[in-house]
Amino acid sequence: MNDESRPAPALLLAKLGPRVSLKEEAGGVLRAQFDGETLLLGKFSAAALRRASELATGWPLSGVGENDAPEEKELRGLVQRLALHGLVEYRLSRGAGGQDIVVVEPQIRDYRPSLQKLGANRFVLSRFAYLRRRGEDLVLESPLAGATLRLCDANVASAIARLATPRSLAELRNEPDFPGEEFLALLIDCKFAFASDPAKGLRAGEGDEDLALWEFHDLLFHVRSTNGRHANPTGGLYANAHLPQPPAVRPAWPGPTIELAKIADTSESAIAALLRSRRSERVFDDAHPITLAEVAEFLDGAARIISRQKLSEDEGEEMEIAARPYPSGGASYELELYLAVDKCDGLERGFYHYDADRHALVAIAVTQRQLEAIIDDGQCAMGAPRPPQIMITIAARFGRVSWKYSGFAYSLVLKDVGVLMQTLYLMATEMQLGACAIGVGDIDLFSRMTGLPFHVEGAVGQMAIGRAAAQGAP
Ligand SMILES: Cc1cc2nc3c(=O)[nH]c(=O)nc-3n(C[C@H](O)[C@H](O)[C@H](O)COP(=O)(O)O)c2cc1C
Repeated sequence: MNDESRPAPALLLAKLGPRVSLKEEAGGVLRAQFDGETLLLGKFSAAALRRASELATGWPLSGVGENDAPEEKELRGLVQRLALHGLVEYRLSRGAGGQDIVVVEPQIRDYRPSLQKLGANRFVLSRFAYLRRRGEDLVLESPLAGATLRLCDANVASAIARLATPRSLAELRNEPDFPGEEFLALLIDCKFAFASDPAKGLRAGEGDEDLALWEFHDLLFHVRSTNGRHANPTGGLYANAHLPQPPAVRPAWPGPTIELAKIADTSESAIAALLRSRRSERVFDDAHPITLAEVAEFLDGAARIISRQKLSEDEGEEMEIAARPYPSGGASYELELYLAVDKCDGLERGFYHYDADRHALVAIAVTQRQLEAIIDDGQCAMGAPRPPQIMITIAARFGRVSWKYSGFAYSLVLKDVGVLMQTLYLMATEMQLGACAIGVGDIDLFSRMTGLPFHVEGAVGQMAIGRAAAQGAP
């Protein structure tokens, strides 16, 4: 394609979401209005307020640099604020008011697209990227991506498909339906594509060694079944309540039936009694918080490394094992415990890793906001009147499992989480502490607190513990 026939450069525009409008109030104060709610956005200069009206049709983001006019900087701040609340979407368009190529729907809290200049590389699609129908749209998604791309032009799908093999920019430009360099820069910014390095190969070339340990379905399952790295609705939403509720007890099979004897109350074993007395406690006694000595006993009994050995596997590989009191698929023992402590007698409020080998708590520096956020999330998930005394995050060092297992590595991790949860429940019950499992956590928050990439060591389960409030106490 020669220079004259090349399409005009595409522009990245920030545009208010479909049900969002801006309302100016006295003193230059701006508010967003959406779905019957309002959000205070702050005070802006007259020049910024004039430009803010462009957000209804699309305000160009691309090309903005360090030497912006002051109102441009204000507007970028405004866009970021709106994006944090999911009130703005980005569009790659052929100019303001022109044909859209893709709509960029941010999936991560502070994702903001930025188009970098492309080098003289070959570019290839990520093995984690996939196209699917969503409603009547075609969307490009990836568990690695900061955003989902909604395709507005059918030709874009064939341009994406062409990136299944590494291509140079010159080759891509020669394709009749290539949407332009800006489109490729956006694919790279969102991690849908990357500059390939022939020396490394496609799998290792995509990222670090830890990413190479993941299979497509495992990473997608992890990201989509937790909070923090996608913008889909989650939780007890009863989305299928229009269908009949499956019965709580499975209808009996019609075959011959052998009635079984029940454990008599008098001969109930200690384990049967412990199992029966276990229950989820969501309200804690803040006048008598859990103590450091109890935390030590709880972790010692349920999670400390009790032996270390090397096992030779049939395949000739040697596996180092650090056994704990609970079973673990393939003896991987990939799970780690992190404690967000709100109230504990003898232990400062803060965030700690449980070193299961040394049987010690190691403090990790986090911000007060992060600590509050993780504890608040637990309170919210339990619908509790007060924060839990300690929020335990169960994190997985995924590579311990996927180094060995293919096809079902992530499902093994989740099964291990269930085993550990019950172990923690039983230890808490034995010690007359309160505990409650929590089904879903924010993997992005945990990643920000630890500085660990979400695919290296990530949150896979949570549990609140503390001194249970007396039955019936508020
Ligand atoms: C995997 C798992 C996730 C759970 N998630 C939550 C949760 O997010 N919030 C909550 O209040 N309880 C949660 N629970 C506790 C269950 O609601 C509780 O186990 C169930 O209602 C049975 O009550 P019991 O534990 O007192 O016997 C969870 C339990 C499990 C095993």
